[in-house]
Amino acid sequence: MPTVLITGAGRGLGLEFVRQYAADGWTVIATARTPERHAELATLTKAAAGRIKVHALDVTDHAAVDTLAARLAGVAVDVLINNSGTMGAQSFAGQGMQAQRFGGLDYEDWAYQFRVNTLGPIKMSEAFVEHVAASLQKKIVTLSTVIASIGSNNLGGLYAYRSTKAGVNAIMKSMALDLARRGIIAVPVHPGWAATDMGGLNAPVRPQHSVAGLRQVIAGLTKEKSGRFWQWDGKELGW
Ligand SMILES: NC(=O)c1ccc[n+]([C@@H]2O[C@H](COP(=O)([O-])OP(=O)(O)OC[C@H]3O[C@@H](n4cnc5c(N)ncnc54)[C@H](OP(=O)(O)O)[C@@H]3O)[C@@H](O)[C@H]2O)c1
Repeated sequence: MPTVLITGAGRGLGLEFVRQYAADGWTVIATARTPERHAELATLTKAAAGRIKVHALDVTDHAAVDTLAARLAGVAVDVLINNSGTMGAQSFAGQGMQAQRFGGLDYEDWAYQFRVNTLGPIKMSEAFVEHVAASLQKKIVTLSTVIASIGSNNLGGLYAYRSTKAGVNAIMKSMALDLARRGIIAVPVHPGWAATDMGGLNAPVRPQHSVAGLRQVIAGLTKEKSGRFWQWDGKELGW
């Protein structure tokens, strides 16, 4: 069976990816900053009889990313899912569209979001490119957001989150071009407005549906679909 590596796997969409891929028989490498804090991940791991392997990882700690990649040398990773993400101190669930408004921006917080949302996925991809290249499926997927789309921004605001995710979209496009010769597919995906700590409980899309849709999108990726922006229900989004 294939192997998937998921960052930010302790809660939210990351945890749901673990649940669904493990239920489907995949080998799951689940990373979380503090795995001991995530009881549901522990329960899933226990039930999976060795098919879920958990590693502590903060994606902003580049030395730790390199150490994990070295530790997993020789392990083929069919799908790398860069799921970790943050809206910083002001989230959509907390402040809605009032978060990160012009005139009240916190630049330290913005820089932190850049380290998680933008640098995290490219660092993970650089560190794990050989693992992905050694696999059969060869896919790198980053959780982005429709909020990153410049063309469909009709509301303004959310400066930090929008720009850090737009940045990772640019990165995924370049990666798709650069890694095509190695047969690697790279895409950003939008999970929908999903009911997690980030999305808030009133969000219309259940994490189960979002992840089920994204898994279908990932399963259907081809080299023609690489470097394009995909939504959880299979629709293509504009930049
Ligand atoms: N939910 C939505 O409506 C929505 C919409 C569009 C895009 N997205 C994107 O989808 C992804 C998952 O979102 P979610 O809704 O599941 O959010 P969430 O419930 O807030 O979970 C965020 C995940 O990211 C992890 N994370 C944050 N900073 C990290 C770091 N420095 N190193 C490693 N992991 C880190 C968190 O780990 P800890 O538990 O250690 O904090 C947590 O597992 C994110 O990239 C998000 O931007 C979500």
